[in-house]
Amino acid sequence: MTSDDIFVGGVSLVEIADTYGTPVFVYDEETLRARAAEAAAVFDEGTAFASKSFLCIAMARLAVEEGLCIDVSTAGELDIVLRAGVPADRIIVHGNNKSREELERAVDIKVRRLIVDNFDEIKNLAELVSLTRPLDVMLRVIPGVEAHTHEYIQTGQEDSKFGLSLSRGDADEAMAQLSLIAGVKVRGVHVHIGSQILDVESFVKSLEIIRTFVARHELDEVCIGGGLGVAYHADEIAPSLREWGERVRAAAREVLGESVVITAEPGRAITATAGLTLYRVGARKDVDARTYLAVDGGMSDNPRPILYGARYEAVRVQQPEATRDGCFRIVGKHCESGDVIIDEAWLPAATAAGDLIATPVTGAYGYSMASNYNRVPKPAVVFVRNGVARLVVRRETLDDLARLDV
Ligand code: LLP
Repeated sequence: MTSDDIFVGGVSLVEIADTYGTPVFVYDEETLRARAAEAAAVFDEGTAFASKSFLCIAMARLAVEEGLCIDVSTAGELDIVLRAGVPADRIIVHGNNKSREELERAVDIKVRRLIVDNFDEIKNLAELVSLTRPLDVMLRVIPGVEAHTHEYIQTGQEDSKFGLSLSRGDADEAMAQLSLIAGVKVRGVHVHIGSQILDVESFVKSLEIIRTFVARHELDEVCIGGGLGVAYHADEIAPSLREWGERVRAAAREVLGESVVITAEPGRAITATAGLTLYRVGARKDVDARTYLAVDGGMSDNPRPILYGARYEAVRVQQPEATRDGCFRIVGKHCESGDVIIDEAWLPAATAAGDLIATPVTGAYGYSMASNYNRVPKPAVVFVRNGVARLVVRRETLDDLARLDV
């Protein structure tokens, strides 16, 4: 490494910016592979990558190559996964409002598992599934667990749009209804308590809550969902996938018995730390209160700060080891004052227009939640590995943006 650059996967970030432009998402492929393999190793067969955290054809292939299934929650996610060549028996279909077409497609291709969410869906399944068109399902239950995370990404609490309540008896009623549909086989129960959860004991609590339901219906498979958090900045600590898995497995053996298959579907814990976003500074502005650095992306490629108050760190790519003696507010190019990437970022005081800035840990829910606000094209995505960069999603062009106007 020279002192004038940062290398990721053996590739210079300056070179990536020059070749592919900015903003650009850069993923270290070894990290993605290592995390995916870790998840596959620590949980049972059927463990899935939650594609909503970051999906493109290359990512879908990578997850499957490392031994995972893939969880999709819309026709759009399913389409990309099928284009990637993922076989149906490695696909798990989610969604709290699956359309008739989405359900039909899942039955047609015979996905590995469909996660049943509500009674209307069960009515639809009764019309679509038969002995000659069978389907393996899991029932998503509401565990009534309030995980310690942002309100918008809590999902286990009783007042939730996802799943069926255990305490109201809805989950039992759903089991009764499903048992009447010839061709439907209920393989187990699914719980997901939320996202960016740093305390593994929340997951253990959800196992305890489903214990009697699992025993009553003699189920032999439990999916614990996703939700393991990552450290976004210096003062956060996150358990590893291995630590999460080992704790959950140990608790499951105790609470549910030895024979129950335990799967999971992590997204963020696989993709977040593997990715960074590379921006170029276009303007520096001093006002009395602070100094702004405006980059060439913003809330369109990273909506997490404005949505959840998420915090990130930044590094300047040129002379990365220079003393970070300046405090900046890093903002995007969108027409909103709330378009802030980092409220207070410490960078070398001389950081100025033309410099490259990297924000690490932006591999999850950045590209996948990217928008075209202000008609800004979505960034390119580049995988780096062993000194080689490969473009896996090209940058959108203005023509791409105009193609839907009629
Ligand atoms: N399984 C289900 C049923 C889910 O709803 C989710 C995430 C996952 C798995 C994967 O969760 P993960 O391991 O990635 O935490 N946009 C928000 C996160 C929303 C999560 C939605 N569901 C964010 O940027 O923080």
